[in-house]
Amino acid sequence: METNFHRLTSTVTDIVVKTQPFAEIVYWGPHLAHFSPQDCGSLLRPVANGRLDVDSPVTLMAELGHGLFGSPGIEGHRNGLDGSPVFTTVEVRQQGETLIIFSEDASAGLRLQSELVLTTSGVLKVRHGLTNLRAGAWQVNRFAVTLPVAERAFEVMAFHGRWIREFQPHRVTLSHDGFVLENRRGRTSHEHFPALIAGTQSFGEQHGEVWGVHLGWSGNHRLKCEVKTDGRRYLQAEALYLPGEIALEEGETLYTPWLYASHSTHGLNGMSQQFHRFLRDEVIRFPDNKPRPVHLNTWEGIYFDHQPEYIMQMATQAASLGVERFIIDDGWFKGRNDDHAALGDWYLDEQKYPNGLMPVINHVKALGMEFGIWVEPEMINPDSDLYRAHPDWVLALPGYPKTTGRHQWVLNLNIPDAFDYLLARMSWLLGEHPVDYVKWDMNRELVQPGHEGRAAADAQTRQFYRLLDTLRNRFPHIEFESCASGGGRIDYEVLARSHRFWASDNNDALERSAIQRGMSYFFPPEVMGAHIGNRRCHATFRQHSIEFRGLTALFGHMGLELDPVTADAEEQAGYQRYAALYKQWRELIHTGDLWRVEMPEASTQAQGVVSQDKRQGLFLVSQLTMPDYTLPGALRVPGLAPDARYQVRLVDHPNIAITGEGGHTMRKLPGWMNEPLSATGEWLAQAGLQLPVLDPESAILIAFERV
Ligand code: GLA
Repeated sequence: METNFHRLTSTVTDIVVKTQPFAEIVYWGPHLAHFSPQDCGSLLRPVANGRLDVDSPVTLMAELGHGLFGSPGIEGHRNGLDGSPVFTTVEVRQQGETLIIFSEDASAGLRLQSELVLTTSGVLKVRHGLTNLRAGAWQVNRFAVTLPVAERAFEVMAFHGRWIREFQPHRVTLSHDGFVLENRRGRTSHEHFPALIAGTQSFGEQHGEVWGVHLGWSGNHRLKCEVKTDGRRYLQAEALYLPGEIALEEGETLYTPWLYASHSTHGLNGMSQQFHRFLRDEVIRFPDNKPRPVHLNTWEGIYFDHQPEYIMQMATQAASLGVERFIIDDGWFKGRNDDHAALGDWYLDEQKYPNGLMPVINHVKALGMEFGIWVEPEMINPDSDLYRAHPDWVLALPGYPKTTGRHQWVLNLNIPDAFDYLLARMSWLLGEHPVDYVKWDMNRELVQPGHEGRAAADAQTRQFYRLLDTLRNRFPHIEFESCASGGGRIDYEVLARSHRFWASDNNDALERSAIQRGMSYFFPPEVMGAHIGNRRCHATFRQHSIEFRGLTALFGHMGLELDPVTADAEEQAGYQRYAALYKQWRELIHTGDLWRVEMPEASTQAQGVVSQDKRQGLFLVSQLTMPDYTLPGALRVPGLAPDARYQVRLVDHPNIAITGEGGHTMRKLPGWMNEPLSATGEWLAQAGLQLPVLDPESAILIAFERV
């Protein structure tokens, strides 16, 4: 019996899979230092009265045929037949921490290939491949990855959101039935980030046991947490297929997207640190490990008003402020004067740029900056030369009115000529200009996506990957940013093809504090595009000090999104200061372990990074709204070496420390802000550091340096 059990192990997490006669995950939890397959005997379940006479396992494919009575991992049929497959293992291969299980249902004519990979970070990758072994198409309605979680995982955390408000966490206690998150928007979406976290009751940043999953897929998806009536629970995730969308012909194979899963006994921070480590080890490919340059993106500075002379002036000013990469956003191509027209016409607007793009690019490069440019290849405006020439290139179902979004439709990338046209135009742009960076946008959702009359959301998503892959191969030196009206296409499958995300169109520092914190559960700071916007934010019309904006943008990949020419002297000094501060700390922020800290009041938000060697920590405390209590309490600093001493240093702050009197909020500053202080990592973690009283919408930055 022992050989039926396969263990995948890492320093933090282990998985044990029973493989015969069918595959079932029997354990997903903390690393086991003393595992022996015979121990698994302890898990043989009783069979309860009043139901089936046999045990019903939650197998890898969660087949209904085992008496699951829940949401199965597979649904489909062959013209009404072969609709309830049950798979039996035919071959098992384990190599290191990779397990591949082949199983078959000879009656239904289907084969399954299940891949489980436990990475050194502790993150588990799982996917399935389904092959149709017989003549006659097998219509796939659903095909999911199912992962059982412990009965004690009573709470579920997910994210909701919308345009300019991404990654907002919410929670439910799940005692019965299920929690479902469905996305039919045709891109990863602002609304339903494809992740679920199940955990023990009241799990938090530092405590509790959590099982978190993320589906690496940029199209429609469904994620579930289901509670069976017998108390067992599982997480399930899949690409969501529209009716008729996927049919497997004989010999064809369909793969689920990869599901990425992390278990942590140290709450949400432990989970996030595993995901971050995994991404840094295996997914993020940053050129030559170079530091992430300070950006200036022109969008909120000039919008569609492109005048090369003025743009060059902006570049000159940007360079003098410390900017390292200059990006011209929307508005450079033929006829693009507002958002009503021209998407698809990827030719230079010669009225705006009579001498071509090169004078601007040369100017930017002469200033020592890299050059970036915005594109939105997957779209087509009704008012465009492209649409006038190819009205049949729209991704739609014939016979229905086509809804626009931001006055645009989606281009059908499944049409080879349309795909080739885009490839050619993008190759012109990227091949004939020394472009270092591309901001790749995608601003409309898919409504009735159709190709040759059939639903084609899945196919469109794959064609997007293919287009980006082809361009990456052609132009390997170019970095790509994924943007979809801000954070509408943020997931691991896009990250495998890009270098960072535009987290949100909302640059309001208060909103960004929440958005970036939400995003940090699954993504490390270096891939989070975070820009200082205008003092008056265009998304909320709120105004924030340059300090609050600067410090909030620091914990990501920093940039400016404004017109540096018209900004006043105080603003400019601020841009310069925060660009310099970012350069000073980016290596730590982009390589260290991230810690979200729970504060006594939700109105205070604290987070920080600690270097891998624990020599340095940098923590940001943001006072979001007016606190209830007069004192903010102590910051208990996680992650430092308990036995080392750290010098505490105030790095950046609002005016409080400068007056020495604390302005209107304090009579006296906390002791460490007047007298030098050092303390052990243990003390700082357990007792903490008293914080100053802060105004709402302000922040301070504190460094801990090993002495
Ligand atoms: C989208 C992006 C913005 C900007 C505009 C340009 O909204 O999210 O950052 O690039 O498009 O039209």
